[in-house]
Parts: sequence; C-alpha cells; structure tokens
Amino acid sequence: MRETLEKIKAEALEALSAPDANIEELRIKYLGKKGELTAVLRGMGKLSAEERPVIGQLANEVRAEIEAKIEAFQSAAKERELDAKLAAEKLDVTIPGEKIRAGHFHPLSLVQRQLEDIFLGMGYSIVEGPEVELDYYNFQALNIPKDHPARDTQDTFYITENILLRSQTSPVQARVMEKTQPPIKIISPGRVYRSDAVDATHSPLFHQLEGLVIDKNITMGDLKGTLEMFAKRMFGEQTEIRFRPHHFPFTEPSAEVDVSCFVCGGKGCRLCKGEGWIEVLGAGMVHPNVLRNCGINPEVYSGFAFGLGIERIAMLKYHIDDMRLLYENDVRFLGQF
Ligand code: PHE
Repeated sequence: MRETLEKIKAEALEALSAPDANIEELRIKYLGKKGELTAVLRGMGKLSAEERPVIGQLANEVRAEIEAKIEAFQSAAKERELDAKLAAEKLDVTIPGEKIRAGHFHPLSLVQRQLEDIFLGMGYSIVEGPEVELDYYNFQALNIPKDHPARDTQDTFYITENILLRSQTSPVQARVMEKTQPPIKIISPGRVYRSDAVDATHSPLFHQLEGLVIDKNITMGDLKGTLEMFAKRMFGEQTEIRFRPHHFPFTEPSAEVDVSCFVCGGKGCRLCKGEGWIEVLGAGMVHPNVLRNCGINPEVYSGFAFGLGIERIAMLKYHIDDMRLLYENDVRFLGQF
C-alpha cells in the first residue's frame, strides 16, 4: 500500500508539472470521490492496527502535497493571465503624441489683416457697415441718383426696390459722415456683392476695403502720400504709384491708382502683362455733393476716399491666377499660405 501511495504521489506531481495540465481533470482523477487516493483509503480497513495510522498519515501527506501542487499551479496560471493582461493593456506614456493639425487664416483674411495693420499704423480706425444696405447709402447719398447710368457697372441683388446687397464699401463713408463731424479717418473692410457671373476674375461676392479721411485742408497731396505709404508697406519699399484720371460719381477729381510692378520693378513681365504697372484701387477727393448729403459743410471741410479689392491684392501678392480658388476651400490650396 505504501508503494501504491508513493506511486500515486509521483504520478500526480509529474502530471501537475506539465504546463498545459488539465487541473480539474487531474484533481478528480487523484482526489475525487472515485479517485485513486480515495480508493486507497477505502482499502485501509484491511490493514493491521499498527499499519493503519502510519499509512493513514502517509495518505494525508500525499493528499496535502497534491493539493498544494494544484494550488501552486492555479496561482501560477492566474499570475500568467494577469501578466498577459498587463502587457496587452500597457500604455507607453513616452511615445510622442499625435500632432494636431492647426488651421490658419485664409489668404483673404491674411491680406485684410495686413491692410488693417498698415492703416491702423497711420492712425485710422476700423468701422464696419451692413451688407444688406439701403439704396440710399449705396447709391443716392454717394451722388448716384436712381436710374443714373453709373449704376450699370455696379448692378447688384435687390431685396426690395430700396434694399439691396451693397455693391461697394463706399456706403460706410456716408453712414460715418452722417453720424460724425470731422476729423474723420476710417477704413472699412467687408463683403460686397455684384450681379456678376463667376469666372477667373469675377465673383458675385467679394471683399473691399474703403478708406475715408475728412478734415480741414485735406488735399490730393495727402491722398497721394497716403497711398504711396500704403503701396510701399504692401508691395515693398521700391514700389511707386501712378494716378490715372478716372470717374467715380462720389469723388472729384477721381483717379485709378496703379503700383509699379513688384515682380519686374516696372520693366514689364507676365504679372503686369508687359505694362510695368498694376492697377490696384480707385480713389479721389470726396465730392462736395456727398459731403453736403451727409451733413458736412464742403466750404469748411474736404477729404479723400479710396477703395480697393481685397481679392485683387491677394491674387497679386500670392500670384493666384484664378479667383475661384479663394472660395473653393480646397485645403491643398489653402495649406500653402
Ligand atoms: N467704390 C468704388 C468701387 O467700388 C471704389 C472707390 C472708393 C473709388 C472710394 C473712389 C473712392 O469701384
């Protein structure tokens, strides 16, 4: 019987040492009610009185050893399981983070801000006006009566007979003059609308920046100096400007203003189409009728105004040859600025 017990013990311990041992099966096989150890214990009745306690003790020791081995196996398995779980859920806080792609200003906003900076630096304030405007401010106050042919070039979208989407930023001039006595020194950037078909150089919605200065003794010399300063700041120190006579109903005299080509310096190139000059804005001395319409005495005060297209400046500055690119919001395009 002793040998049987020793044999059971040796077998059981060996079986329990295999890493893939089926613990539950082995427990039943050795310790279960119908197990090998139980079978031995059942046969104890046949033993002599001296042998019984000795074998009994041995049997208990074997049972204890097998139980201990089973427990060890189970706790080792639990530990392995935990290790695997920890490894799988490991978080390496030293791995570099994923870069967040930051956006940036649209080229039109970049140019608008640069323009604002230039004029703020010259002491101008920024004033905004409504995009849905009265016919009165967009046209009549600016010396463009109903049915005047000058309206043709600024056909826009009408909401009613007297309410429209402003076709220029000039109505802000009238709104400011009506509310403020000189000195006035403002710029007004914003959206404007015209009933134009979309192509490489036209859009029914675009942006302008208006400038207005009214005070005593303001002359065309002040306008010229101001625009020269603007041109140098915007396009480079070597830039020169040139005034060409023009007509706007709300300025007299009026001019279209060119800058010397900042690519070729005036020799003529693709950008300036061989001209050496590039048209960038319209300007002039505020018409006395406009001053009067807005409650400012033209005998006392004079002033100048100018207006430029922000798209045009952006296209020149960044060599963009199609205006539509500015509105399509294609990140492959916008990402370049
Ligand atoms: N408002 C004019 C335009 O849209 C530009 C301009 C502004 C001209 C101010 C003269 C003075 O074309």
